[in-house]
Amino acid sequence: MRKIIIGLLALGFAGVGIGLWTSWAADDAAPPAGDQASAPAAAAGGCCKPGDTTPPTELVKQVPQGQLHSPYPDYAKLAKEQELVKNFRLPGCNECHGGGGGGGMCPPLTQGVWFWGNTDDVLFRLVTLGSAELEKSGFTRITYGSVHAPMPPMGFAVKTSDDLWKIIAFIRSINPPGSNPPEKLVPARITPSGVGGPG
Ligand code: HEC
Repeated sequence: MRKIIIGLLALGFAGVGIGLWTSWAADDAAPPAGDQASAPAAAAGGCCKPGDTTPPTELVKQVPQGQLHSPYPDYAKLAKEQELVKNFRLPGCNECHGGGGGGGMCPPLTQGVWFWGNTDDVLFRLVTLGSAELEKSGFTRITYGSVHAPMPPMGFAVKTSDDLWKIIAFIRSINPPGSNPPEKLVPARITPSGVGGPG
């Protein structure tokens, strides 16, 4: 287990590269860009279902940006029924974020502060792709946490999309009341990279 984690750390901190750090420093000062309106749209798309065995790395390719919706909107209920912290620990999230997600060498996930937004779509993509790839795909950072380091791509370590939705339900359940949608919606800032632009 240790070895795997060391590997992940290397991936997160070294693999993503020094170059990014410098480009991020520049982004820090950049004005927020993007389309605030796009996030809550298209709820009827049919994604996503409980028990979905599609690997997260595949689902992010199949479903258009903004359209990943958790099949567990009642995360509080799910968190009472199941020990979701086990799903959280299985891929090693705890090694950086702390055993209960309350922070370790990386930012706590319990603060109700959302670096890239707090929609289902952005959390699913952030964990799957990591922050560097998320940014490349058109998302803009909203704020920094306590640690200016990239979230590594973890999609490869989470077997199924269902597992990831349960991990996201866990993360929501450890945040203070009123810091999750619909009470507090922090939409992703997406700059459409495809044809046509923002219109
Ligand atoms: C190698 C250490 C590391 C591992 C392992 C790791 N993370 Fe992270 N995570 C980070 C860092 C660093 C950030 C801050 C990234 C940023 O500011 O862009 C972060 C950010 C996040 C955020 C955004 C928090 C916010 O307030 O906006 C979430 C959600 C998250 N991680 C979930 C996970 C999950 C789920 C896993 C396991 C599948 C995981 N992380 C594994 C280092 C890690």
